[in-house]
Amino acid sequence: MNHIKEFERFAHEYQNYKIIQSRVAKHLVRNTPFCGRYLLDIGAGSGEVYRNIDWDFERFVALDSSKKMLALHPSAKVRKIVCDFDDACCWQKLGSDSFDLAFSASALQWSKNLEKAFFHIAKTAPFGAFALFTSGTFATIHEILGLSSPIYNKEDILAFASRHFMVDYEVRGYRLFFEDTKQMFTYIKRSGVSSGRKRASVAQLRHLLQTYPHRYLEFEVVFLWAKSRYC
Ligand SMILES: C[S@@+](CC[C@H](N)C(=O)[O-])C[C@H]1O[C@@H](n2cnc3c(N)ncnc32)[C@H](O)[C@@H]1O
Repeated sequence: MNHIKEFERFAHEYQNYKIIQSRVAKHLVRNTPFCGRYLLDIGAGSGEVYRNIDWDFERFVALDSSKKMLALHPSAKVRKIVCDFDDACCWQKLGSDSFDLAFSASALQWSKNLEKAFFHIAKTAPFGAFALFTSGTFATIHEILGLSSPIYNKEDILAFASRHFMVDYEVRGYRLFFEDTKQMFTYIKRSGVSSGRKRASVAQLRHLLQTYPHRYLEFEVVFLWAKSRYC
């Protein structure tokens, strides 16, 4: 999948461009009303969730499809699992491990089947804390290009999650300011928020660079704090 390859390619650059994702992970963990000793992080990357946990825990399982991202994840009390959360085998790899709490920050928006992913998570842990970028991210860019967002809208995210969890949620908007539009587009490429798919022609991108009306990029994130309907 394109975005998975992009994380492998840009794992090191991601560390300098994860500005919004760092804020998202911090907000997610700080506002989680549950503390767990056995933790799972889905799409753990280089460890933003882990770095924000300020309570004592026994074990932390960091699951991610990118070996290079996981190589940058801290290791203390951590088991790292390289696998694709859209693949049913991924959930079998967790084996007999049991969890108190599952996290996922800035990763599940890439799921090919988000409802299925929520189903697997709800079967795996009694509580969850998830943050997903929504289709409101880069809304003006998509509007100028006449493209639909490659990621889910907030209504669908909430509907899919609610089938498997009882959910409390919050929607937050973020703006990231830049000196010029060129820097903005470099940011999009390196930060892991683009799909890694070239969907616009060179002429369209030139037009975008000339006409983009803001000095900032727009992001929309939905935060979910959830109790499984199964565990
Ligand atoms: C934007 S990064 C977020 C990383 C970390 N959670 C954070 O908050 O900084 C998204 C992560 O999700 C992982 N990812 C994307 N699609 C995945 C999939 N289908 N299965 C497992 N991991 C995936 C990527 O490799 C990447 O490490």
